[in-house]
Amino acid sequence: MEIKKVVIPVAGWGTRSLPATKNIPKEMLPVYNKPIVQYVVEEAQASGLQDVVFVTNRNKTIIEDHFDYNLALEDLLTRTGKTDMLKMVREVAEMANIISVRQKKQLGLGHAVLCAREVCKNDPFAVMVGDDLMFSMEPGIKQLLTVAMSEHMPVVGVMEVPPDMVSRYGIIDGDEFAPGMYRVRNLVEKARAQ
Ligand code: UTP
Repeated sequence: MEIKKVVIPVAGWGTRSLPATKNIPKEMLPVYNKPIVQYVVEEAQASGLQDVVFVTNRNKTIIEDHFDYNLALEDLLTRTGKTDMLKMVREVAEMANIISVRQKKQLGLGHAVLCAREVCKNDPFAVMVGDDLMFSMEPGIKQLLTVAMSEHMPVVGVMEVPPDMVSRYGIIDGDEFAPGMYRVRNLVEKARAQ
């Protein structure tokens, strides 16, 4: 089983990041010299996920544009001899196969993933969120793909949170069957602290 597709939902409102996200999608906010979503797509690429399915909405076309050619800009950079920058902007356009689907109503992350159903069909696929950055020696999504392929089952990345933060997260209950790997028994979205 080879996993080549990654679904990246980017259709949320981003209300927690207002006012920065009043007109700019939060996925396009820069971290140093790149928008967050570019790091996510680079991580997908480095993990062998070549087909990127963005789940977007009518206000997020700037994300697809970021991964497309900008011929006017390329012309300017060519004429002014800025070859390093030209190479950089072209690389972004050639980074991945981009497929876009629309989430017409913002009904949440689960619904956004469901909007990619017709594109993914019965193929196995990964999901990455377009606004979350994780840095590690081996890309986080690659680690999850390795587990999914060896265990032949869906796998989700989790992290520990302090007890007073439990109500802000989806929480799992599980048995650790290998170091750092849990078989999930139960899952609660935004659990109440005991
Ligand atoms: P969040 O839970 O951060 O929601 O979404 P949000 O709507 O973007 O932000 P807030 O809560 O208003 O601040 C996690 C990821 O899921 C996408 C978002 O774009 C983000 O990348 N998402 C969320 C969708 O694609 N559709 C939705 O209906 C909700």
